[in-house]
Amino acid sequence: MSKQSNVIFKVSPGGRLNGRLRVPGDKSISHRSIMLGSLAEGVTEVTGFLEGEDSLATLNAFRAMGVEIEGPEAGRVVIHGVGMQGLKPPSAPLDLGNSGTSMRLLSGLMAGQGFDVTLVGDSSLSGRPMQRVTDPLGQMGAQIDTDEGGTAPLSIHGGRQLTGIDYKLPMASAQVKSSVLLAGLYAQGETCTTEPAPTRDHTERMLEGFGYAIRRDGPRTCLSGGGSLRACSIDVPADISSATFFMVGACIAEGSDVTLEHVGINPTRDGVINILRLMGADIEVLNPRTVGGEPVADIRVRASRLKGIHIPEEQVPLAIDEFPALFVAAACAEGETVLTGAEELRVKESDRIQVMADGLVTLGIDAQATPDGIVIQGGSLRGGRVDSHGDHRIAMSFAMAALRASGEIEIDDCDNVNTSFPGFVELVSGAGLSIRSEEAA
Ligand code: S3P
Repeated sequence: MSKQSNVIFKVSPGGRLNGRLRVPGDKSISHRSIMLGSLAEGVTEVTGFLEGEDSLATLNAFRAMGVEIEGPEAGRVVIHGVGMQGLKPPSAPLDLGNSGTSMRLLSGLMAGQGFDVTLVGDSSLSGRPMQRVTDPLGQMGAQIDTDEGGTAPLSIHGGRQLTGIDYKLPMASAQVKSSVLLAGLYAQGETCTTEPAPTRDHTERMLEGFGYAIRRDGPRTCLSGGGSLRACSIDVPADISSATFFMVGACIAEGSDVTLEHVGINPTRDGVINILRLMGADIEVLNPRTVGGEPVADIRVRASRLKGIHIPEEQVPLAIDEFPALFVAAACAEGETVLTGAEELRVKESDRIQVMADGLVTLGIDAQATPDGIVIQGGSLRGGRVDSHGDHRIAMSFAMAALRASGEIEIDDCDNVNTSFPGFVELVSGAGLSIRSEEAA
C-alpha cells in the first residue's frame, strides 16, 4: 500500500481534557476475531470491531480467501465461517499494509493451508523482522521464502504437513507466540510455546471462546492440531493502547478529568496503568466486569503531579505499545525516568526509542536513547516540528505533548493514525485538545 498524501497535525499549546469517551475497539482482539471467526463452523458476530486500516487489512485478506464477511457497520461485523479447511487461494498477494500483527499471525495460519500465498506490506512493515516467525514455522515444516534479511514479502508454500514443536520464545512477543499456536491448529501432534515473560493472551482466550481445547500452565501454552472452532459472538472492548493517549493527556494537563469507557484491562495489557500509578497518577478503575472472556472497566483519570521513576522491567511487555505516550508523561514529570529492557521498541512501526528521543529533544527535553531504552529528564516542553516517521502511536503521543507545551507542535507524517485510531482528531478535539489535521501535497 503506498500513500501519496502527508497528513500533518498542528496542535495548539495548552488546554485540558474532559468528559466521558469511548475510544475505538481493541486492535489485537479485532484481528483475532476475523481470523478465528473465518475458520470457525457457523456465523460469528463481532461488535465493537476496530474499523482501522490494520484490522481492515486482516478482514480484506480473509475476504480475498473466499470468506463472506458483512460489515463493518458501526463496529458490527458478521463472519460466515468456512471451517478450518474452507479457505480458498487468493488471486493476488495479500496486502497487509502497516500491520505487523496481520503478517505474523497470518504467516502461522497460512503455513498450514493447501495453497500458496504471498504476504506483502508497506515500507515500514517490509523492513520489520519476520525471521522471528519464519524460523519456528520452518521448524514445524513450513516453507516460507523471505526477502534478504528475513523480511517481507513472504511467499508461503502450501500443501506442507506441519508437525507440532515445543518452542521456547527468544523474546517476549505475543505475535510470535500466536503465530506458532495458530500454525499448531494445522499441525500433527502437540504444539507448545513457552514465553520468557507474560505477553498479551488474546489468542489463547479467544481460542477457548471458540471451544478449542488449550492447556495453559504459567508461561507454557499447548494445543493439539486437527480440532475445530465453533462460532461465537465477540464484544470487542475499547483498546487500552488508544485509551493511553487520553490517560497521559489527562495526567499532564492541569484541570483534566476524563473517563474512558469499556476499556479492556486484560492483566497482560495493563502495564500503562501500573506505570502511571508508580509515577503518581490519579487513576481509578471503575466498574470492573468480564465481557466475552476479557476483563473490562471504565477508567477515570484526573490531572496530577507526576514524578520520574525507573520503570520496572517486568512491566515492559505489559505496556509495550504504550511507551511513546509514557515518554511524554516522563517529559512532563519531575525528575528522571529510566527505561531498560525495552529493545523490542526498536522494531515496532518505527524505532520508537530513537524517534521519540529525537522528537523530545526538538521540543526542548533532555532525552537520551540507550540500546534498550531511554533516559528522560522531566522539563519544560516548547513548540516545534517533529516527525512521527509514519508511526501512529508517535503521532498521537506528540499531539498530547502540546497540552503542556509553550508553543504549537507540528507533527509530520500522521496518515497512519488511521491504522489504529480512526476519528482520533475528532474525539480528542471534543475532549479539549486544539488540533487541526492538514493535508500537504
Ligand atoms: C500484538 C503484539 C505486540 C504489539 C502489537 C500487537 C498482538 O507485538 O506490539 O501492537 O496483537 O499480538 P509483539 O508481539 O511483536 O511484541
